[in-house]
Amino acid sequence: MSTKLTSAQKEQLMSRAREAAEHSYSPYSHFRVGAALRCVDGDIFTGANVENRSYGLTNCAERSAVFAAVSSGKTAFEAIAVYSPDSEYPIPPCGSCRQVLSEFAGGELMVIMMNRRAKIEKKLSELLPFDSLHELKR
Ligand code: THU
Repeated sequence: MSTKLTSAQKEQLMSRAREAAEHSYSPYSHFRVGAALRCVDGDIFTGANVENRSYGLTNCAERSAVFAAVSSGKTAFEAIAVYSPDSEYPIPPCGSCRQVLSEFAGGELMVIMMNRRAKIEKKLSELLPFDSLHELKR
């Protein structure tokens, strides 16, 4: 069953992702990203992308949000919103972030991808099909 959020809960999550992008540390790419992760208990954790002069050490906004939540003892999630004001299209999580999300969330996790103009909603299972940890357990 797909996660159901009220439209107010969804709006709140999207607005937190937009705010989080303001904390992006992206002096190399100038590509700001924010993410907001909603836990099953309703708590929301946010993250921004944090770049490094050793480019490969960059942390995406989605992983920043997951690591913040897990570091606070939360591991059950129902939705994540991702926003970039600098993207031409609603920003999809990269492969590494999909994998990290799937460590904790099942395929039903709602992923809301946004830019300034548009949003697309998918389930994690659509972005990362045939995921061993969860789908194969069924
Ligand atoms: N980035 C994210 O934070 N999330 C994504 O979903 C895609 C890419 C960041 C990484 C890097 O700081 C910048 O965007 C350009 O790739």
